[in-house]
Amino acid sequence: MDILDWKNLPFGYLKTDYNIRSEYKDGKWGDLEVSTSEYIDIHIAATGLHYGQEAFEGLKAYMGKDGKIRLFRWDENAKRLILSADGIKMARVPIEMFRESIFQVVKLNKRFVPPYGSGATLYIRPLLYGSGAEVGVKPSAEYTFIVFVTPVGPYFKNGFKPVNVVICRDVDRAAPKGTGIYKVGGNYAASLRADVAAKENGYVTSIFLDAKEKKYIDECGPANFFGIKDNTYITPKSESILNSITNMSLIELAKSLGIKTERRQVPVEELSEFTETGECGTAAVITPIGKIVDPDKNIIYEYCKDGNAGPVTQKLYNRLVAIQMGDAPDEFGWMTVVE
Ligand code: PLP
Ligand code: COI
Repeated sequence: MDILDWKNLPFGYLKTDYNIRSEYKDGKWGDLEVSTSEYIDIHIAATGLHYGQEAFEGLKAYMGKDGKIRLFRWDENAKRLILSADGIKMARVPIEMFRESIFQVVKLNKRFVPPYGSGATLYIRPLLYGSGAEVGVKPSAEYTFIVFVTPVGPYFKNGFKPVNVVICRDVDRAAPKGTGIYKVGGNYAASLRADVAAKENGYVTSIFLDAKEKKYIDECGPANFFGIKDNTYITPKSESILNSITNMSLIELAKSLGIKTERRQVPVEELSEFTETGECGTAAVITPIGKIVDPDKNIIYEYCKDGNAGPVTQKLYNRLVAIQMGDAPDEFGWMTVVE
């Protein structure tokens, strides 16, 4: 009997059997420990609570038709967590320890990996925070690393269907030389005012512009933005956005499909020239954008007028998902089987 209603899972937290933890003390990481508790005991003066010393990652495990569980480019997540740790002065999680933790936690929670064809996946959430007590503003001497998993459905509830988004000019998510390139909790806190307002107005998320000039597209809620014109995949280059592993992969896939690629500043006005737009990320996968509303300028950019993703977006989606599910050959060496 199925343990969950796999086809109708939300993108949210569901309790699983185990999580993995390790503590960094006296300059070194302790052994990985398996826990069944959903709770942590945390010092009241921990820097993770007071000064935002916290970073996380997000990746997925996919159940193939062949019954094998695969992870997508986990080494890129391990490297990005190191970048985030350096960015806010935390202890690094070594790549081998990251690997061991995520593979072990998936194996321990195997019964929660959604079946092939359900449209759901197992989301893996590694988390690193300063757990030592400090009251002055300085990096902690102690850290905690936790990895939990939760089965998830699509981030945007209709999955691969066009969504509407709104351009936000009155909130900045990240400053040009700030923490936008790191996957730290503070960036998400900074995005919440815009996100709540967007949802209240019927949009799934907001598009942030560059904080300095408000001329260029930056981040698209919890995902990177892309636009298509003249058989070219165009995605913003910015020093304040997360370097999305999905986006990086789409650039490679596009090239292999004969689609040109450009990574450069994308002026807001260029939205009128794109024939397709979308957002991409682990949670969002590829989500086509139907409408981008710019309330300050009173402009609505419309795509997907027939209610479906455009041809290039569709082609990229099909290829990406086929590789992730193990349906297509892993020609880029992106997938690792959990054994
Ligand atoms: N941008 C932001 C702000 C994100 O939170 C994410 C999610 O991880 C992404 C982009 C997409 O990155 P990735 O494809 O590595 O998941
Ligand atoms: C992801 O795509 O993994 C994310 O982290 C997005 C969001 C859930 C924070």
